[in-house]
Amino acid sequence: MPENPPLDATAPRMPSIRVALMPKDTNALGTVFGGVILSHLDIAGAIEARKSAPDRMFVTVAMHRVVFDAPVFVGDVVSFYTQTLKRGRTSITIGCRVEAERLREPGVTVKVMDAEIVYVSVDQNRKPVPLSSTES
Ligand SMILES: CC(C)(COP(=O)(O)OP(=O)(O)OC[C@H]1O[C@@H](n2cnc3c(N)ncnc32)[C@H](O)[C@@H]1OP(=O)(O)O)[C@@H](O)C(=O)NCCC(=O)NCCS
Repeated sequence: MPENPPLDATAPRMPSIRVALMPKDTNALGTVFGGVILSHLDIAGAIEARKSAPDRMFVTVAMHRVVFDAPVFVGDVVSFYTQTLKRGRTSITIGCRVEAERLREPGVTVKVMDAEIVYVSVDQNRKPVPLSSTES
């Protein structure tokens, strides 16, 4: 599978969200459940989408190339970096990078995943609406 394009290295490194993972977030192996990471990822991407269209409501239509490259452990602090990659007619594509700062290895940060999420601007009836207010 081709790698996701890296986020713009010149962009400021301010995560959309940072989360410390707790024992309640683990699977049967004791590592963090992937669905927990995806839930935070979805929120981080939605925050980024709202930045360029604050007056719109978004739903998630697709999460592309979701591959976990490294596990997350209890106590790790996980950062979700986001960047708007593409603005379509009704959709926005957000690039996401997830990194974990290891609790048990101070100073060590690992890449957990890169992903792309597509959000669609919808109206009250959950139908797609253009991002541009000049278009109906
Ligand atoms: C999102 C939703 C409203 C789109 O409806 P739709 O009938 O497919 O709408 P359209 O075909 O007009 O597509 C709307 C936009 O979504 C994009 N899109 C649709 N399916 C896509 C997919 N699988 N991957 C990427 N983009 C997609 C289209 O390219 C289009 O973008 P553009 O306007 O910028 O060109 C509908 O699929 C839906 O309600 N899905 C459920 C969303 C949801 O509840 N998410 C949370 C899950 S719990």
